Amino acid sequence: VQWQAVVVKGAIKRLIPFKPQLRRLKRMVAGYDPVVPNLWSTIGHAEKIFADLDARNFDLRGATVLELGSGWFPVIPLLYRFKGAGRVVMTDINPYLDPVSFAAAKRFVSDNLRQITGRLGLDSEHCQTVLTETRSFDAPDFNYACPFNIHSIADGSIDVISSRTVLEHIPPADLIGLFAALRPKLSVRGLMIHLVDESDHLEHVDKSLTRINFLTMGPARWALVNWCCDYQNRLRHHEFPALFRAAGYRIDEQLSWVDESTLAIAPTLKLVPPFDAMTPEQVSTLESLFVLTPERSA
Ligand SMILES: C[S@@+](CC[C@H](N)C(=O)[O-])C[C@H]1O[C@@H](n2cnc3c(N)ncnc32)[C@H](O)[C@@H]1O
Repeated sequence: VQWQAVVVKGAIKRLIPFKPQLRRLKRMVAGYDPVVPNLWSTIGHAEKIFADLDARNFDLRGATVLELGSGWFPVIPLLYRFKGAGRVVMTDINPYLDPVSFAAAKRFVSDNLRQITGRLGLDSEHCQTVLTETRSFDAPDFNYACPFNIHSIADGSIDVISSRTVLEHIPPADLIGLFAALRPKLSVRGLMIHLVDESDHLEHVDKSLTRINFLTMGPARWALVNWCCDYQNRLRHHEFPALFRAAGYRIDEQLSWVDESTLAIAPTLKLVPPFDAMTPEQVSTLESLFVLTPERSA
């Protein structure tokens, strides 16, 4: 696939009315299969999230978890249930999750249960029982809030707010507003854990691009491409902490992964401002994990 075709397709999709209804109809007729390597990438990210929570002895048994931006295939919410979470609330601003994609996510986990539970150090028999019992995503202890109304969440009621590959899709000012509004929702032991993918998502579908091709696009071109595709804020790893602090959080931990092949070519690329003033390491950091806790004095 060439990225230009993806952009044009995105623009056409944006202009189609009744999109959610058409999406649902299409899935009912044709089914909806996940791109399996993407779900294995989700499992890889889940390993990082749960390794971090385990390392800080965060007890998920009975915990209430809110996932921001659950998307199409709620694999990580199922894994939180496997880890013992008492209640998982999935949220989104787009109604991507439906019974067809939910069944596909369950099927992927079920078909690969031994491998997944092996990687996460979980008991596969227990997980099979949990999977069988999780029949829908509108149960009181496993539900989908879309559109997500933050005011429907009681203060102090959430132990973990978690996301994977979502923060890069939220405009910076909205991110501060959303996180500030979420802060009182966290319980006394509550924390946030976010896995961020800072790579150009068009490269995911067009491997002829570099992983930071979008940093070579000037404002007008980028605005057009970004309007056609799923919005990306192009924030670099080192720019997130200031936003989190502005929303009233302490950065408990930040892990980052530099992509070595991007680092090797970064100095040869014609990056546009402000990226041209950043170090090769800063522009080539393509994955982050942030753990945040409310700044109690905020
Ligand atoms: C790349 S998808 C990731 C989906 C899922 N977390 C996963 O790992 O497969 C990004 C998701 O974030 C959602 N999203 C974007 N902006 C959001 C916001 N402000 N609040 C909540 N979700 C948002 C999108 O609708 C989409 O479902």
